[in-house]
Amino acid sequence: MMYSDKVWDHFSNPRNVGEIADADGVGEVGNATCGDIMKIYLKIDKDIITDVKFKTFGCGAAIATSSMATEMIKGKPVSEALKLTNKAVVEALDGLPPVKVHCSVLAEQAIKQALADYYRRNGIDPTPIIGELPDPEACHVH
Ligand code: FES
Repeated sequence: MMYSDKVWDHFSNPRNVGEIADADGVGEVGNATCGDIMKIYLKIDKDIITDVKFKTFGCGAAIATSSMATEMIKGKPVSEALKLTNKAVVEALDGLPPVKVHCSVLAEQAIKQALADYYRRNGIDPTPIIGELPDPEACHVH
């Protein structure tokens, strides 16, 4: 079996799908490998991520990893969400086939972009906190 039960579960019944109209941070990234797109919306109150939603034009692995990633940062402080790695998400899903690991990077990058957007909206330069992020437009395959 290529996919774990957890991957199937999050793919068949993804958590936190949708958008947040009055989000405090929005991140969008494209996957340079396949051209798929991920969008993450964050609601942040006093440094706590109170709500998170995602939308994707992505494959099953992208859906499952985003679903798991959103569950992992919901209710957590921003500082913890910043530390979320795609590796941790893949581990929480009991693994992904190696050819699909690139899909899990979408969620991590979109969360970082959304947090960068949140900092910018609050007049804070996100680069020293988050580091250089890939230009979201540069990743898009047109
Ligand atoms: Fe594009 Fe998985 S194949 S995100």
